[in-house]
Amino acid sequence: MALSGDNDFVVVANRLPVDLTTDADGARTWTPSPGGLVAALSPVLERFSGCWVGWPGVADTAPEPFRTESGVLLHPVELTATDYELFYEGFSNATLWPLYHDLIVTPVYDREWWDAYRDVNERFAAAVAEVAAEGATVWVQDYQLQLVPGILRQTRPDLTIGFFLHIPFPSADLFRQLPWREETVRGLLGADLIGFHLESNVANFLDLVRKVAGPGGSHIGQPDSLIVEGTPATRRVGARITAADGRSVGVGAFPISIDMDSLGESDPATVDKLRGEIGDPETVLLGVDRLDYTKGILQRLLAFEELLEAGALDPAEVVLVQVATPSRERIAHYQHARSQVEEAVGRINGRFAAIGRPVVHYLHRSLPKQTLHHYYALADVMLVTPFKDGMNLVAKEYVACHGDGSGSLVLSEFAGAAAELDRAHLCNPFDLESLKRAVVNAVRGLEHDPQTLHERMLAMHEQVATHDVRLWARSFLRCLGTLDDASVDESRA
Ligand code: ADP
Ligand code: F6P
Repeated sequence: MALSGDNDFVVVANRLPVDLTTDADGARTWTPSPGGLVAALSPVLERFSGCWVGWPGVADTAPEPFRTESGVLLHPVELTATDYELFYEGFSNATLWPLYHDLIVTPVYDREWWDAYRDVNERFAAAVAEVAAEGATVWVQDYQLQLVPGILRQTRPDLTIGFFLHIPFPSADLFRQLPWREETVRGLLGADLIGFHLESNVANFLDLVRKVAGPGGSHIGQPDSLIVEGTPATRRVGARITAADGRSVGVGAFPISIDMDSLGESDPATVDKLRGEIGDPETVLLGVDRLDYTKGILQRLLAFEELLEAGALDPAEVVLVQVATPSRERIAHYQHARSQVEEAVGRINGRFAAIGRPVVHYLHRSLPKQTLHHYYALADVMLVTPFKDGMNLVAKEYVACHGDGSGSLVLSEFAGAAAELDRAHLCNPFDLESLKRAVVNAVRGLEHDPQTLHERMLAMHEQVATHDVRLWARSFLRCLGTLDDASVDESRA
């Protein structure tokens, strides 16, 4: 069997679903890579036995392509140490990431970073062109690869090209800061279909195309108005844009979700044991995030501290577990976020812990999926408080683990998930009082109004269970024209 050139379905993302790691004794192993993109797409690729083109997570290495046990062909793309610095840490995560997350920190606009971004996008596109069969479907993922659709349109016009953005798309007024805005929009418009999580992201993109194109706009593209289809339950929002070359490009909202099947059952004995290990508190609060300044980890710690200080929460009864996955650790804003979080954890424990009984348990590491699910099952209140988040799969995973209606979710209004999980205790993380109110309502509700909380969790569980990642992938690929009903049924198997 040839390993490349004959793949009918190719996903290309900055990262492969696994990172290459080297142990102290020099042995190389593959470990799951972080983030929501990988969590969502892995089960989809497994069902299609597709090919995944991406970076193996370490600089200056490109192992040979290989097939995973679940049948996915992994095709590594090499990033040099300079690419890592200029393309990944620079343009992707110090320019686009803060710009697309509404300037929580100030984006840096650097011409050398942009050159590296264009160059790396060309190499990813070349790798795709090499592995994709004639007429294949290529699904390009996320903000790191926005130029790939445009490049492939030129080099491989036979391909059907989809693009999905996993992070928010900002308002046109913010995006227009980007010195390379026209090239970026043109790159995206190389796709046949561009997907966002939310209707508001679609509206922002259409507005942007209008503004960047200006009156007439024939050199970029002309959007039609929004199309809304279906009933409130099956509502689909999208539009078509006529690109400069006359092609019609679809744009739509496809809220991503989780794979219910991969969650598995949590083991009650393990959950009880965990509860014992953290001092058998009456109430367990939990946060699970990449350690990213967008996630509002510090704010939730400050809210917790003020509630302990005011006596609204009793340190003898409540414990906060915060799991923070290491992320983008050389970037200054991430280092700053980490030191602020760790300082707050130390201070809160210094003020409110007893010997052998911390009030905040802080883990700065990745955990096996099964362990994470035990933490979800353990948590009475889940805290998901980002300043801005494309979707936030952690919120959906928590809800999915509480199919019995137990637990309670505090959720930021600025997480994409809030559009679907509107029965959560919604809060504004920029307003500490709002965050504190949501936490208190969630904790007190467990005691004073368990029936209402139960109903709220069950309603959210139903939403997640009926809108899982398979529905997301099927809706997108069907709109792209890749799936007919027969292959949809096959992909369900
Ligand atoms: P993002 O994509 O910004 O990281 P999401 O909440 O959408 O945020 O997705 C995060 C994914 O990473 C989830 O599937 C979650 O289970 C996983 N995850 C988060 N923290 C950890 C951790 N410490 N160990 C293992 N998986 C984690
Ligand atoms: O969700 C945004 C995202 O950048 C994804 O592309 C990725 O899954 C996740 O965050 C992790 O980021 P990184 O690949 O930079 O570690």
